[in-house]
Amino acid sequence: MSLPAADLISSSLRDDGLAVFNPATGEQIAAVADDGPDVANAAIADADAAFKNWAGRTARERASVLRAWASLLMSHAEELAALATAECGKPLPEAKGEVFYAASFLEWFAEEGKRAYGDIVPSHQPNARILVLKQPVGVSAAITPWNFPLAMITRKAGPALAAGCPMVLKPAEATPLSALALEALAHQAGVPEAVFRVVTTADPKAVGEAFCDSGAVRKLSFTGSTRVGKLLAAQCASTVKRLSLELGGNAPFIVFDDADIDAAVAGAMGSKYRNAGQTCVCANRILVQAGVYDAFVEQLAERVSGLTVGNGADDGVQIGPLINQAGIGKVADLVDDALKSGASVVVGGGRHEAGELFFQPTVLTGVSAEMRVAREEIFGPVAPIIRFETVDEALQLANDTPYGLAAYFYARDMARIFKVLEGLDYGMVAANEGVLSAESAPFGGVKESGLGREGSKYGLDEYIELKYGLLGGLS
Ligand code: SIN
Repeated sequence: MSLPAADLISSSLRDDGLAVFNPATGEQIAAVADDGPDVANAAIADADAAFKNWAGRTARERASVLRAWASLLMSHAEELAALATAECGKPLPEAKGEVFYAASFLEWFAEEGKRAYGDIVPSHQPNARILVLKQPVGVSAAITPWNFPLAMITRKAGPALAAGCPMVLKPAEATPLSALALEALAHQAGVPEAVFRVVTTADPKAVGEAFCDSGAVRKLSFTGSTRVGKLLAAQCASTVKRLSLELGGNAPFIVFDDADIDAAVAGAMGSKYRNAGQTCVCANRILVQAGVYDAFVEQLAERVSGLTVGNGADDGVQIGPLINQAGIGKVADLVDDALKSGASVVVGGGRHEAGELFFQPTVLTGVSAEMRVAREEIFGPVAPIIRFETVDEALQLANDTPYGLAAYFYARDMARIFKVLEGLDYGMVAANEGVLSAESAPFGGVKESGLGREGSKYGLDEYIELKYGLLGGLS
């Protein structure tokens, strides 16, 4: 198979270096530069040199470049989607959706950048005025994951560039090609080379350390595991950098007795099985109230057993491979542990014959809150179902985790909806919807799921410093 978007990334391809594999076939599809901290530091120095000029342009000029970048994404949607599917495995229709999702962040922040209004604050002195100026933080660095190899980049680069901050970005080792294609389109759109630079590497630790240790980098944005997020936060302490961390989750998906069960099943399918369960906001545990438990399990099992598993590039496939051996190994371990601890398989339960990295879409019942499958992030197509009796018990189970990214629930009673919305200790809560991400909404978690918000009007603030200006002697 020829490499999708080859015209965009041909200059980045190498004979050896960082090898890129198609997780559906196991085949090596490309190799790109395996750069180290020297290249990262050079990119940071270039970004620093370009900062004043980029920040000095009007917000309107930056917006027109970002809009041009978004248009190029749309006009290359087919190739970008095929490339993302080839390196991360997600089904092609999901990859196409991701291209539009990625473009939406550039369009959104092109406009938000124009609204970085400051303030004039009533003064404490009659002969003085207090101004609040909004200024870009400076050079930013980003580390992005493989599960959304396009959108997690534009969700960071959009607000950074709109605010006036150059960005140096390290994509996941598994998915550098989508990042390189985005970089090529950014430069075609008019983003200066030094203002958005992608550094590909097989040594993420060394490049991550270069980002954290650099005094020139004033902001680091990371999406990935809580374990790595904690390490980066510790490493950034020495330079007191601004941090945005979008980390792991353990999303509860709660179905109450008064829920519309058809809608809840449809929501669970979207929330749990999107990207084969490999998103930070995927439903991790499904909590179902006793009165609707049997009906919900029966309908969910029927839908899950109808899912088509295979190479994401093939027509009709709904569940692609997991990203790598570590990913599928963890999913298999969690299922084995649950079965040994008393859970039962309703659908699936093991590896799928489609290939080494494929896992059967699975539904487990008889799961208890103590099992690892209910406590750890699964990142695979496995739905563990836990039965509960009361609203308070559901809230207690849902909040009993160090994570606090996304939560979902289905109910119709308004008093219950407010009680649960307010009672869930999560950064994002969806009532009667299974997917909550949008460029206009603040995405982010509480507790060990992270710091800061991406997307929405709040996402721009992550790249902005407030400067207090006191103008005295005005009498
Ligand atoms: C993620 O998994 O980190 C992002 C998911 C999303 O934006 O919906």
